[in-house]
Amino acid sequence: MPQNALVVNELGGPLALVERARPSPLAGEVLVRIEAAGLNPHDQKGRDNGLFVNLPGAILANDIAGLVESVGSNVTKFNKGDRIFGQSSLLGRGPDAAGLQQYCVLEADVSAHIPPSISFEEAATIPVNAIASFVAISHSTGLGVGFPRVVKESLDKQNIVIVGGGTSTGKFAVQFAKLAGFGGIIALASLASEDELRELGATHVVDRHAPDVGARVETLVGDDLIYVVDMVSRGDNQSFPVSLLSNTQKGEYASLVPGKVTEETAKLKKAGFERKGVLGLSHKHRDICVPFWDNISDWIVDGTVKVQRYAVVDGLDAEKVNALLDCYRDGVPTTKTLIRPNKLFSVRDST
Ligand SMILES: NC(=O)c1ccc[n+]([C@@H]2O[C@H](COP(=O)([O-])OP(=O)(O)OC[C@H]3O[C@@H](n4cnc5c(N)ncnc54)[C@H](OP(=O)(O)O)[C@@H]3O)[C@@H](O)[C@H]2O)c1
Repeated sequence: MPQNALVVNELGGPLALVERARPSPLAGEVLVRIEAAGLNPHDQKGRDNGLFVNLPGAILANDIAGLVESVGSNVTKFNKGDRIFGQSSLLGRGPDAAGLQQYCVLEADVSAHIPPSISFEEAATIPVNAIASFVAISHSTGLGVGFPRVVKESLDKQNIVIVGGGTSTGKFAVQFAKLAGFGGIIALASLASEDELRELGATHVVDRHAPDVGARVETLVGDDLIYVVDMVSRGDNQSFPVSLLSNTQKGEYASLVPGKVTEETAKLKKAGFERKGVLGLSHKHRDICVPFWDNISDWIVDGTVKVQRYAVVDGLDAEKVNALLDCYRDGVPTTKTLIRPNKLFSVRDST
């Protein structure tokens, strides 16, 4: 059965509207009629640098929310017509698992039922950014605090610094730091996000534009900071967040973006530190991501995890999606945007 999709055919080229066949769910998968698909910065890197995609015919977007259209063999968790959300696979399933089309496949064990209290759009604000933050804090490839937490030590006397607290991933990191039980949750962000970050669980918000960010953090943590999670720093800029770690106790640093630390900074850390580059993929870290997807609906209902602000684009509108990806490329601030592939943009635009 044919469907519409937006595809990338050449690096740096614009997305183009095409017809392609609806995928069929394999064992363990469901076919989803997509009601909302979220764009993220990695989609721009996919279009322009080929990150996680194979050209031609690549399809972007991995935040998926929609209705189950059919189920593959071995799926007992979902039935046709269920409201479902999940992070579609960047590994192995290629364009069939991506969101800028009318139907895609999701793996059932790393997907969840959308609670009745939230919309498709709200659900689609969660998968990619929540998983990245959750992996960064909980998984052994990140800070490694564990989930479900086998309590080796309580974290209530520990602080965590979240660099890039104002990002979507940073806001989820605040919530998962609270869930993990950190006593002090220090978000570095613009003060415009302060109220929201405090509501999500930050105990302190340090203005990231202040000339003395390091000194302000030191006032809060002394020489005892062991945990730093970083959503934004790249290149040598990772020296600054690492400099915040204790000089006398071994520190843990996890970043979502590749970078490096100068030798000068590293030398100051007399007890050493571990530096982890995080890949927030449900399919790669099933040990904690399957439990994440088993719990996420309850966390939404009980308020542990809150959905984020969003904007919408109706239909597979290549021009609007290209313009949004250009904003990520050009560093223009954007609201998290959800594409609704099964809405007719020509109808909406004419009303
Ligand atoms: N490794 C992975 O698995 C993974 C997964 C998801 C995302 N990522 C990466 O993580 C990064 C963040 O993604 P996102 O979607 O969370 O970002 P986002 O929501 O688009 O980030 C926008 C916000 O970042 C803050 N910001 C901008 N420049 C900053 C800077 N120099 N220092 C600190 N904060 C800054 C601003 O907030 P304030 O002005 O309010 O502070 C801005 O509103 C991207 O590079 C993305 O590709 C990686």
